[in-house]
Amino acid sequence: MPKTLVTGAAGFIGSHTVRKLLAEGAEVIGIDNFNDYYDPKVKEKNVSEFLDNKNFTLERVDIRDQEKIPEIFKKYEPSHAVLLAARAGVRPSINAPELYNDVNINGTLNLLQSATQVNTENIVFASSSSVYGGSKEIPFTETQWPLQPISPYAATKLGGENLARYFHQQFNLNITCLRFFTVYGPSGRPDMAPYLFTDWINSGKPIKRFGDGTTKRDYTYVADIVDGVVAALKKPLGYEIINLGNNQPVMLNDFISTIEKILGKKAEITQMPEQPGDVPMTYANIDKAKKLLDYNPKTTIEEGMKNFINWYLKNKNDH
Ligand SMILES: NC(=O)c1ccc[n+]([C@@H]2O[C@H](COP(=O)([O-])OP(=O)(O)OC[C@H]3O[C@@H](n4cnc5c(N)ncnc54)[C@H](O)[C@@H]3O)[C@@H](O)[C@H]2O)c1
Repeated sequence: MPKTLVTGAAGFIGSHTVRKLLAEGAEVIGIDNFNDYYDPKVKEKNVSEFLDNKNFTLERVDIRDQEKIPEIFKKYEPSHAVLLAARAGVRPSINAPELYNDVNINGTLNLLQSATQVNTENIVFASSSSVYGGSKEIPFTETQWPLQPISPYAATKLGGENLARYFHQQFNLNITCLRFFTVYGPSGRPDMAPYLFTDWINSGKPIKRFGDGTTKRDYTYVADIVDGVVAALKKPLGYEIINLGNNQPVMLNDFISTIEKILGKKAEITQMPEQPGDVPMTYANIDKAKKLLDYNPKTTIEEGMKNFINWYLKNKNDH
């Protein structure tokens, strides 16, 4: 297996990706700046199991660092790269557009420029279903145009895809942009609905439900996402944009019922107004992923949430 650089290695999807790559025998160089978007202790815990692995090296660095990032590429000459480091989260981006732009655009640009110096053979870039904005063309397909993102976060992800297209055209880099749809599972981000709702229901706190509960999300289990990431990494495709979703949107009220059932506790719901930046529905057409990556998400929401809640119950006191 090749030498693979993974940015955002200490994050939710990053740590699952590192685990899978190491299990497949790859040499992995992880990059993360352990910022405080959520508790950095969680990120330290995410990487702790890899630190003794001789095939894993951790570089604590910011992807915007214009000296260290090119040096790291020159030092390790990674043949493959997975670009997951970003400011994630739709709602916080509305109050911090400059920061989101700086990390997600300038950071991505710095990584792509550095990759051209060492001819990295294949790159996977983490994009997002949010680029589809409030599109009414359901399910979302990769050919939809124009795309109208409705948050700074979504705009930076679309910008990242376009930078990747330029680097492919100009420098012949192979880059696959994967549009992830609401990823959940063990080590899930503490700012996302699966974690927040589970935490509120478990501790008997009222749930803040934004809107009437009829919004839908195509929740996708993290192991299925990582299978798609690794498949994309193994298959240089020139430049492609590919949805990675579950193709089974779940209504928010049903999602809450699923958590209630697994925890055996009833939710107390406080209805809040809809939030700026939130879209009514996400729903992935995954035909392209099936065809090009042999992608086949297997995890039902009940099974995935059971795994998540088991992890949550074991780890909640550390958060
Ligand atoms: N989780 C989802 O549902 C979802 C959906 C669509 C897209 N994505 C994208 O997938 C990627 C991973 O998301 P995640 O949910 O694992 O988020 P995460 O916040 O858990 O992981 C991101 C990691 O990147 C690191 N990072 C952020 N800024 C950095 C910087 N300037 N330099 C170095 N490291 C930095 C963070 O410390 C963190 O560990 C992101 O690009 C995100 O936008 C996630």
